[in-house]
Amino acid sequence: MCGIIGILGKHQAAPIMVEALKRLEYRGYDSAGIATVEDGVLDRRRAVGKLVNLADLLVTDPLSGFAGIGHTRWATHGAPSVANAHPHRADRVAVVHNGIIENFRELRREASGPYESETDTEVIVRLCELFLEDGMEPQDAAFATIDRLEGAYALCFLFDGEPDLLIAARVGSPLAIGHGDNEMFVGSDAIALGPLTDRLTYLEEGDRAVVTRAGVRIFDADGRQTNREMKRIHVDATRIEKAGHRHFMGKEIHEQPQTLSGVLSRYIEGDRIVLPTDYDFSATDRIQMVACGTAQIACSVAKYWFEALARLPAEVDIASEYRYREGPVGIDTTALFVSQSGETADTLAALRYARGKARAILSVVNVVESSIARDSDIIYPIHAGVEVGVASTKAFVNQLAVLLCLAIAAGVQRGEIDAQREAELVAGLKLLPGLMSQGLTIEERCEALASRLSEASDILFLGRGPMYPMAHEGALKLKEISYIHAEAYASGELKHGPIALVDRTLPVVVFAPMDPLFEKTVSNMQEVMAREGQVLLVTDADGAKQASDGVWEVLVMPRIDPVFAPILYALPAQLLAYHTAVHKGTDVDQPRNLAKSVTVE
Ligand code: F6R
Repeated sequence: MCGIIGILGKHQAAPIMVEALKRLEYRGYDSAGIATVEDGVLDRRRAVGKLVNLADLLVTDPLSGFAGIGHTRWATHGAPSVANAHPHRADRVAVVHNGIIENFRELRREASGPYESETDTEVIVRLCELFLEDGMEPQDAAFATIDRLEGAYALCFLFDGEPDLLIAARVGSPLAIGHGDNEMFVGSDAIALGPLTDRLTYLEEGDRAVVTRAGVRIFDADGRQTNREMKRIHVDATRIEKAGHRHFMGKEIHEQPQTLSGVLSRYIEGDRIVLPTDYDFSATDRIQMVACGTAQIACSVAKYWFEALARLPAEVDIASEYRYREGPVGIDTTALFVSQSGETADTLAALRYARGKARAILSVVNVVESSIARDSDIIYPIHAGVEVGVASTKAFVNQLAVLLCLAIAAGVQRGEIDAQREAELVAGLKLLPGLMSQGLTIEERCEALASRLSEASDILFLGRGPMYPMAHEGALKLKEISYIHAEAYASGELKHGPIALVDRTLPVVVFAPMDPLFEKTVSNMQEVMAREGQVLLVTDADGAKQASDGVWEVLVMPRIDPVFAPILYALPAQLLAYHTAVHKGTDVDQPRNLAKSVTVE
């Protein structure tokens, strides 16, 4: 969501902050702003739209000073506008905020205006200003303000007359302190701070930090001064570049054979699955998987694997529903949370709901320093590297790979998979990166189909078994980056309603690898064609030979053992959406209204 940067530096802060904000822009991006203190005077600049607008403004109306705070905003309260952009300021204090202040209405009554924005954030500076007017020192005024806030926040305060002070605080939203040589930084993630320092201290829940160039003092939620570990971060992990691709999403799609091979090497030894941390699946009676968006789709695929390979009952929930449903969680249930960012507010809240009830809290995450990772008993990293495109691609594929490894491990432990079958499955996994490389050759066809798909106002995706969630992935990817309405249905469910939508204007994408359900999916496809629906069949050479008659188009994928097909069929889901969006000219990497890391509920 919103990105935060804070600097107490040795050089002009504005250009450094703009560069840092560029690296954060992928998180949320409807407006941006910075504030600095120069000669003791607080000043700010803000602009709506992409960061380039702020950079242009700073050319005509520069801002000097070695101390500053900056922000990229993803609107929650109040539309994107200059008035709603951060930093917000009252007379002597400015603040940047990521999260939501739930009691802002009540606080607004207390700290009366004038208010210039519709945001929940502005009340923070108004309240802080009141404390300053009462004679409090900046640190005390900021702490007294924070004491009054309810909700989720990462905050960074900057004060008039204080060129060597930042106050940072976190509840619910991540925040890190960066250590330089006689310079200090604050950032909402390691990516923001990557080129500035490789030494980071992550704030814990409820922490407040008093940052000066000499260092940082951290106070925990009970107000006690505390030590938090400083970690060295791999600068490589924070490098963000397109490497010759037009979009990050295109680059990340093409990286998948490599990133998949990388994660498999961490979970395979010889012809066995070896989990990085042991977990006893034989002692659990069900697995409850919870996530949002694409990560939830990965769980829905994994349900088929856990049930078929390990005979382990599996349930899947959307985190925003699970967290409030008050469903029973048996003491023998394993709760498993899947999240690329590890910061998704709903998934984190769902995890906290299950904590203390479930047998264990497992998480499958990309960012191992994240809140979800930290709150889990065991983490299973997906090792996908930094994913910048808002639409998840390589993280999804690696989530699937890790979930499949967990399901195989569970099957072995539960006596459902013997050594020979395990070796066969591992051999199949080892073939996957190569098959992904071959699968990328469908790209040219996807590009050619994009012009027809981009004319459609609706597109239907169909699949059976684990291809049903993959149909959801195809529809979700298409919606989010091409803005074309898309629906996914289980092929067998079509005739129970949605078939009424089918006519000659409706493209219907059918995911049908050659598996035991192929014939049944083809029957459903025939029902579509009988109503003049335009079928785009995604299958392998055998499937194409059997079922191409009368279809509009066929995308031929490499032949694959059905167990692994969902991982390979992520490619057509991604490439069809990507090329349709490119054809339409949408903002592929930063689609409208979306943010990479959704830290509000
Ligand atoms: C879609 C997409 C989102 C995320 C969802 C969860 O392409 O990326 O649906 O999957 O917001 O995010 P994480 O995995 O960070 O919890």
